[in-house]
Amino acid sequence: MIIKIGSYEFDSVKIEAEAPKEEPARQYYFIKICRSMLKAKFEQDVALGSALKRYGEENLEMMEKNGWYGTFHIQTFGCQMNSRDSEKLDAVLRACGFYETDTEQADFVLYNTCTVRENANLKVYGRLGVLNTLKKKNPDMTIALCGCMMQEEEVVAKIKKSYRFVDIIFGTHNIFKLAELWYNRLIQQSMVVDIWKGTDQIVEELPSERKYPFKSGVNIMFGCNNFCSYCIVPYVRGRERSRNPQDIINEIKRLVADGVVEIMLLGQNVNSYGKTLENPISFASLLKQVEEIEGLERIRFMTSHPKDLSDELIQVMKDSKKICRHLHLPLQSGSTRILKAMNRRYTKEQFLALADKIKKAIPDISLTTDIIVGFPGETEEDFEDTLDVVRQVRFDSAFTFIYSKRTGTPAAVMENQVPEAVVKDRFDRLLKEVQNISAQVCGRDVHTVQQVLAEEIDSHEEGWLSGRLSNNTIVHFKGDPSLIGTLVTVYLEESRGFYYMGTLS
Ligand code: SAH
Ligand code: SF4
Ligand code: F3S
Repeated sequence: MIIKIGSYEFDSVKIEAEAPKEEPARQYYFIKICRSMLKAKFEQDVALGSALKRYGEENLEMMEKNGWYGTFHIQTFGCQMNSRDSEKLDAVLRACGFYETDTEQADFVLYNTCTVRENANLKVYGRLGVLNTLKKKNPDMTIALCGCMMQEEEVVAKIKKSYRFVDIIFGTHNIFKLAELWYNRLIQQSMVVDIWKGTDQIVEELPSERKYPFKSGVNIMFGCNNFCSYCIVPYVRGRERSRNPQDIINEIKRLVADGVVEIMLLGQNVNSYGKTLENPISFASLLKQVEEIEGLERIRFMTSHPKDLSDELIQVMKDSKKICRHLHLPLQSGSTRILKAMNRRYTKEQFLALADKIKKAIPDISLTTDIIVGFPGETEEDFEDTLDVVRQVRFDSAFTFIYSKRTGTPAAVMENQVPEAVVKDRFDRLLKEVQNISAQVCGRDVHTVQQVLAEEIDSHEEGWLSGRLSNNTIVHFKGDPSLIGTLVTVYLEESRGFYYMGTLS
């Protein structure tokens, strides 16, 4: 069979057996083929001298020494789900023989996209223009797009029409197929588009490459069933599917054996974890099982929908030695009327009561939130309700967003879209309030001694490290890089608003 990578044709790859039908064996099969094709091309390029031109002497030497045959670059937009997906995509590309570069001047460029707000989309189209120029210089380059944006039909139609230089488009449900899709691209010589509308398939046991050796995200569920009226996520991520507890526990055990001390359990609404499993189990019971894993030091999770946050969960958090003192609890709006229109299924009073209950049970907890300003029909009075909740709850921090109309969601066709100038004014007022409170609240642990997970070298000051408290606040302190990835005891000497300066004690 003749295979082409960009301008290069070769027929040296012999495919001996049929691709296995079952996953993940099928993907390992394609990874192997892709790797041998990439290797053959690389060897050819080395012989022709074009590899030297492309990579430079130093890089080429390193590639030959390490058995790498090309470069890749992944750009991730959006949330933690996407970041975690990118770690899996990263590992597949490495297994295929690529190594990572930090710019888009690479042989394989992948954009993992987000579509939660209009801005996220615009960024991708902007970057695509840049990729087009790069591809003209390096015709062997492969450009792949995946993620939430690709689950939208109009987006795919637009790319097919106006961005013909894109090689591969896939969605959120089939990221595990990357090697197979690349293989298809190589043999079919035209754009490969593979978007699944939905899936009930969860492919376990594929490789993944962690950004930090000592901490990792772990998906516990995929998709979302809540259909908040402004939100595109349920349409692009599909219906809620929980992983089996045993698969989750096994994955965490493997991670811990590999040096991970902190995990972040990921889902759009972790509080409804396990409800649809054959043997239903609550999120709180899952947490109890995770807590028992020896060697694991810290457990975080994201995101908690207020409507599903149980007393059982509060109790488990309170009793836990490992669950971090941080809860991200998206408010979205403080107005009961708007919350109803948003289909959030709680009232202002219920949210306030919940926040109060959590703070009473776990006094050292840090509460953070997401707020949308300018939802259709939002009046000044509604907005005042949001400010009121912000003032009463005193969040440690809040992500504030300007409402963005997402085609296909119920809110997009609601009347009374709020004028831009009004939204902008409210946004600025909210941000100011949030930041004021945050500056007061964040410093509350000053002059105490706390456990800090040392995470990285502080880029601002030589000889310093940065780490995080259990409640997620950043701490800078003097320390040796060998401490990275370990829990250390730090005296919080000074609060600087959103972070601390500390000393090892
Ligand atoms: N599952 C999470 C949120 C995921 S999206 C939850 O329910 O809390 C992350 C945040 O993006 C949301 O909390 C919301 O504040 C914001 N967001 C979602 N859709 C939006 C839209 N159309 N316009 C503006 N912000 C939006
Ligand atoms: Fe979107 Fe609501 Fe689902 Fe969160 S819970 S992902 S905001 S629909
Ligand atoms: Fe964006 Fe998809 Fe996450 S739309 S916020 S990347 S689930």
